[in-house]
Amino acid sequence: MHSLGLSVLLALPVIHASTSMGRSMVVHERLEAIPTGFVAHGSAPGHQSLSLRLALVSNNLVGLEDALMAVSTPGSARYGQFLTKEEVETFVAPSQSSVDAVTTYLSAHGLNATPFSPAGDWLSLDLTVTQANTIFDTQFSTFAHVETGAKSVRALQYSIPTALRGHLDFVHPTITFPHPINHGPVLSTPLSKGAATSRSSNSNAVPASCKQAITPACLQALYGIPTAKATQSSSVLGVSGLAGSFANRADLHAFLEAFRPDLSPSTTFAIQSVDNGKADQNISQAGREADLDIQYTVGVASGVPVTFITVGPSETIETPNEFIASLQNLMTFLLGERNPPTVLTTSYGLDEVFISQPLATSLCNAYMQLGARGTSIIFASGDGGVSGGHTENCTQFNPTFPSVCPYVTSVGATTGVPETAAYFSSGGFSNHFAAPTYQRGAVADYMAKLGGANRGLFNASGRAWPDVAAQGNNFLIVNQGQTRLIGGTSASAPTFASVIALLNDELVAAGKRPLGFLNPFLYSTGKSAMNDITTGNNPGCNTDGFPAMEGWDPVTGLGTPNFAALRKAVGL
Ligand SMILES: *[C@@H]1O[C@H](CO)[C@@H](O)[C@H](O)[C@H]1NC(C)=O
Ligand SMILES: *[C@@H]1O[C@H](CO)[C@@H](O)[C@H](O)[C@H]1NC(C)=O
Ligand SMILES: *[C@@H]1O[C@H](CO)[C@@H](O)[C@H](O)[C@H]1NC(C)=O
Repeated sequence: MHSLGLSVLLALPVIHASTSMGRSMVVHERLEAIPTGFVAHGSAPGHQSLSLRLALVSNNLVGLEDALMAVSTPGSARYGQFLTKEEVETFVAPSQSSVDAVTTYLSAHGLNATPFSPAGDWLSLDLTVTQANTIFDTQFSTFAHVETGAKSVRALQYSIPTALRGHLDFVHPTITFPHPINHGPVLSTPLSKGAATSRSSNSNAVPASCKQAITPACLQALYGIPTAKATQSSSVLGVSGLAGSFANRADLHAFLEAFRPDLSPSTTFAIQSVDNGKADQNISQAGREADLDIQYTVGVASGVPVTFITVGPSETIETPNEFIASLQNLMTFLLGERNPPTVLTTSYGLDEVFISQPLATSLCNAYMQLGARGTSIIFASGDGGVSGGHTENCTQFNPTFPSVCPYVTSVGATTGVPETAAYFSSGGFSNHFAAPTYQRGAVADYMAKLGGANRGLFNASGRAWPDVAAQGNNFLIVNQGQTRLIGGTSASAPTFASVIALLNDELVAAGKRPLGFLNPFLYSTGKSAMNDITTGNNPGCNTDGFPAMEGWDPVTGLGTPNFAALRKAVGL
């Protein structure tokens, strides 16, 4: 629930009485209480090893944001002139004085941190609990997540030397607890053999079967997505493989045979492994989420090279499902790549309230960096309507992270033919991120029509999401050899990503640049290329949620893609 006392008091201006090596310490981050759902199991053993991550203050993120907007806003003189890896790192690197201040403090305690992000803004520090307790004037404790029993070592507050303020942004993991992640699918029904007979067709008429079950042919017909194969091998569509869900090649083969008979069923995907991430091809290990993500990228973005990027568990054994670490490790990997994918789709997220604002901001800045390099970053908006992943009786709407990051494109869900908003499509307003300029007009128009509905349940000045939508209900997939119906914004995100990947392919074939960060385009020249969804709503927290309306709304964003209109809007 929102009222779980996760409010963070950052850099509380109170000088602690205690000192460390004669330095005055100041409380840097603190929780008021143990987050709901966790219990304390006493102090962590002093000899236990910890892997901490230290975020240093970057020297010029404002400059990077200006650059991102300049290369992503149609009509700007620099539109499409994406930054190189080195140019991005110049903005993101900490100043030498920050590096020196932190290094000096650590070495006075016999400790040595090593950079692990390409720009050097993140350091990793291996030490014992005793050492961590000393240098951050804290008490690391063991906590258990009640529902899953998962143990983690966290601190309810920690301090840093006053001399490090303005240099050391924050330390993780400390006050952000490892909550289980929310991800689709919302429903998953096995189908009896022979029930799924939909075939690809080149006709623009939407097959009648699409009212019951969505296949690639339905999406092609609904959105005018071309069936012809892409021609450019340079533009890769990346699929985030998180949470131990593995995409299976045999399932994809069976899916293509059944639902894309016009493509070779041996069309497959590449696998990239981050942190020893696996993609076990034993059919019993095939994940529904990963199979869905792969089948609706390979099966919709015809001929586009697709890479399943599978991220291993983080090295801290104490925190098995360290979702935040895996998001960060994925970004660290991609930012280090010379040629990252031009589209990246991710169908995972967690309630924003579970991640501290500094940590959320830092991760969001990694998306800003990749966007400036020219990658379109796409996230599912979440499947709990306005309640997010909270099944309890929420008293506030729950935004989903990373969808609320202003540098990603969040995709909500529609259902039916003709399309209406899907009830589970998460959307609303962030408490961590302010509304970015590119969406202010669209959101103000909605707020004027909404009137006072839901007042007090959401933060009207926050970044509003989702940005767009796509079908997300009753998708046919093959999982572990069985045809199933599944749904969620987990289906919408790869669908939208495929549309963008196909547009990129045509742009590159025409000698133009790929689209990169999409939102400044979507909210300006792209907006009229979307099918506006004006019916449906996303209930939750004992409310009807938000209604879809004409124009942007916090259920379906600007609407679903119209490929022919998008082609024109991007200048093809
Ligand atoms: C696949 O996984 C199942 C269940 O874990 C196991 O019984 C089987 O031996 C595995 N097959 C192979 C070829 O590894
Ligand atoms: C939600 O509220 C209802 C009615 O007040 C109550 O019966 C139920 O126990 C609550 N559920 C949780 C998980 O708190
Ligand atoms: C509402 O959003 C704004 C902008 O992001 C933020 O400054 C403010 O702290 C938020 N309010 C609450 C109560 O979270």
